[in-house]
Amino acid sequence: MYRTHTCGELRIENVGLKVTLAGWIQKSRKLGGMTFIDLRDRYGITQLVVDASAEQELQDCASSLGREFVIQVTGEVLERQSKNPKMPTGDIELKIETLKVLNKSVTPPFTIEENSDGGEDIRAKYRYLDLRRPPLQRALALRHRLAQEIRSYLDKEGFMEIETPYLIKSTPEGARDFVVPSRMNPGSFYALPQSPQTFKQLLMVAGYDRYFQIVRCFRDEDLRADRQPEFTQIDCEMSFVEQEDVLNTFEGMMRQMFRNALGVEIANPIPRMSWYDAMDFYGSDKPDIRFGMKIHEVTDLVKGHGFQVFDSCEYIGAIAATGCAEYTRKELDALTEWVKRPQVGAKGLVYIKCNADGSFKSSVDKFYSAEALKTIAEAAGASAGDLVLILCGQKRKTQTMLGVLRLEMGNRLGFRDPKVFAPLWVVDFPLFEWDDETSRFYAMHHPFTAPKPEHIEWYYSDKKEDLERVCANAYDFVLNGTELGGGSIRIHEAAMQERMFEILGISKEDAEYKFGFIINAFKFGAPPHGGLAFGFDRVCALFGGQETIRDYIAFPKNNQGRDVMIDSPSAIDDVQMEELYLSSTWTPQE
Ligand code: AMO
Repeated sequence: MYRTHTCGELRIENVGLKVTLAGWIQKSRKLGGMTFIDLRDRYGITQLVVDASAEQELQDCASSLGREFVIQVTGEVLERQSKNPKMPTGDIELKIETLKVLNKSVTPPFTIEENSDGGEDIRAKYRYLDLRRPPLQRALALRHRLAQEIRSYLDKEGFMEIETPYLIKSTPEGARDFVVPSRMNPGSFYALPQSPQTFKQLLMVAGYDRYFQIVRCFRDEDLRADRQPEFTQIDCEMSFVEQEDVLNTFEGMMRQMFRNALGVEIANPIPRMSWYDAMDFYGSDKPDIRFGMKIHEVTDLVKGHGFQVFDSCEYIGAIAATGCAEYTRKELDALTEWVKRPQVGAKGLVYIKCNADGSFKSSVDKFYSAEALKTIAEAAGASAGDLVLILCGQKRKTQTMLGVLRLEMGNRLGFRDPKVFAPLWVVDFPLFEWDDETSRFYAMHHPFTAPKPEHIEWYYSDKKEDLERVCANAYDFVLNGTELGGGSIRIHEAAMQERMFEILGISKEDAEYKFGFIINAFKFGAPPHGGLAFGFDRVCALFGGQETIRDYIAFPKNNQGRDVMIDSPSAIDDVQMEELYLSSTWTPQE
């Protein structure tokens, strides 16, 4: 037996006990004739001590130890002279009687402690060392706990965990596919699934009426803090359900996860907001409702005062930044520059200061009387002390910019505490999105989403404005301004599915080639069904109070989609290329 206890286990009650520990040396230091060693494993740290009275051989051995050596020690648990209340094991130390070096270590490239001195790149290269650090161990432990909660809840609710294949045909989730050449089928490629969407629907056709899978998905898209090329979904589907059944089931799952993993009770019921309200009042399809500062349309009040910029635009909207009336000229100029950055894209910013003494000061004073400014400020929801920020332009674009500005002001004002959890269902999404550039409709969610029954007539209409009005029983689960999950009630009839492909401009032949299998399956008694998928990495990160998902994945990729530890992706040799019938004309650019 290598150890009797872990390094996080011993307490004052264990004083006098003879124990054996094994672990990694975090650090050691000499003090007078004594050597103190911090011994670490994933359960914690225990202080070891070799005192001046120990045999010379033991003292010499203790002096020769380096950081990250793996050792095994046996000794007696003693009460510490100077206790450390910050450490769970801080009341005791282990007086070493025997010490064995199980393995040496070269000097690690960064400190392996709560806070490391290593930069991101070096830590990514030595990910297995970074993973020894407590913050990463806590992150993976949280991920594990959440996975257990999900499985226990869904099992209790009668869901079956069923695996679906990774080597498949392209699924249309809107990103590029990763492809895998097939040696046995020259010139043919598998695609890695962007999600198991079509398979879970086929499982419904097959009668497995409650399916789930914690499953890897692959999308070749630009990466961000909350996006990885391979990520994990909690993927679910149910038959004989309406939207209400799906939302209630997964509200229950989220509630259990919050309660059992964090001890947090979330809103009951979770509030719901239509996509249209989300866009109008928050300028986002994933509103952060931890704070107010909603967007108010002020078009009618602001137009017609001779200010050309406003008079000529489609939409004017405002938010009232709480308590910011005292912003200085310099701060306002900086904020104006901020909204003009390409990431926001506004042309300019108009403000109204609602001073504490009841007066108003605006950047467009000369066009508006004090009375007019007061009316606009009130319509924007401002009180004395607030700063009204106004943007104008095309409706949805301006709302989106106001949404970004609202989040920025929320950050500055400390309204976005990661320990506060404000979940929200966004519902009633439009089924289609029109794209001016390509002059065609795209599925807002994916092409298997059904129109709302009451909008069926518009769905079969040829008029663009009718199709734009069609809504879906589609829903997103949003937490603190992040989309954690999404799903919909699906099409389950072949004819309706064919109409969808027609609207999306997918030819009959193309639909047959790409999706013939699912259209065909729908001819064999497909039950009404619906479901959703949560982004598991995002769930873990948000539960852990972070926005970046990377630390919640054991071996993630960097922003270029590279794993710098194993140096992947990388070239393959000519023999492999030949076997796969591949040839490359690409040469690295200088
Ligand atoms: P969707 O495309 O909305 O839906 O994906 C579901 C959830 O997966 C997460 N997610 C990601 N997480 C990390 N990195 C990524 N690149 C990434 N892309 C998506 C998000 C998102 O909400 N088949 C449908 C679900 C359904 O209709 O049942 C689907 O995949 O949190």
